Amino acid sequence: MTTNEAPSRFSKVPRHVAIIMDGNGRWAQERGLPRMAGHRAGTENLRTIIRAIAKLGIEYLTLYAFSTENWSRPKTEIAGLMHILSEVIDREIEELHAEGARLIHIGHLDGLSSTLQNKVRAAIELTRHNQRINIVLAFNYGGRDEIIHAIKRMLVERVNPDDVDETLVSHYMFTAEIPDPDLVIRTSGEQRTSNFLTWQTVYSEWIFPKVYWPDFNEEELQKAVDEYARRDRRFGGLKEA
Ligand code: IPE
Ligand code: IPE
Ligand code: MG
Repeated sequence: MTTNEAPSRFSKVPRHVAIIMDGNGRWAQERGLPRMAGHRAGTENLRTIIRAIAKLGIEYLTLYAFSTENWSRPKTEIAGLMHILSEVIDREIEELHAEGARLIHIGHLDGLSSTLQNKVRAAIELTRHNQRINIVLAFNYGGRDEIIHAIKRMLVERVNPDDVDETLVSHYMFTAEIPDPDLVIRTSGEQRTSNFLTWQTVYSEWIFPKVYWPDFNEEELQKAVDEYARRDRRFGGLKEA
């Protein structure tokens, strides 16, 4: 059964919010700090945002933390980002677990050190039965990569071409069990997808707050959710009289 046809399709409260956490580097540069200081600052607000999301009754929060293209950054920055992921898991996982958060990963864990892979897997395992909120970590994730991965699996499994439809393709995505995002927020003012949830966001509402990610707080989240509630989602149809 697909979860893509969420009953809340026209609800004013999004069921799934996805965030492209952008602008850490510029946040730091504007303060005369190294880019890593921005990445670190960009983890300080996570707890507040996750709590606020759960309080709003939003069931899924996806966080885009590292794209397949981010491997083209300097080695030191990549190493720093890996280190930060490790630190955040160490610092937050027990509390998130206690608060009923389930961690899910989308993308490829290979490419990460085996220690980090094990840490992510252990966090997923620890929280797998939690139901209050689902935190979907997009790390080493790319939308096109996901589609290629899905096509390869379908070919390997010799899927009958007559069976290929949107529901089936959705099942081959990393997000098989996750409803499509209702709202995508990209901070920092950039207005592009940067390879985020290519298949899943065709009818998502997109909001582009100007603030850099470390400055994104509960008030900014509320503004985005309010703006979402004012949007008129039509899914290609016409409004009923
Ligand atoms: C987002 O911040 C975090 C990652 C992409 C990992 P950036 O590092 O892209 O910050 P800017 O866009 O350079 O300001
Ligand atoms: C997108 O931001 C990826 C993440 C936030 C993880 P980037 O900063 O990498 O994207 P571009 O390069 O500006 O498109
Ligand atoms: Mg950026």
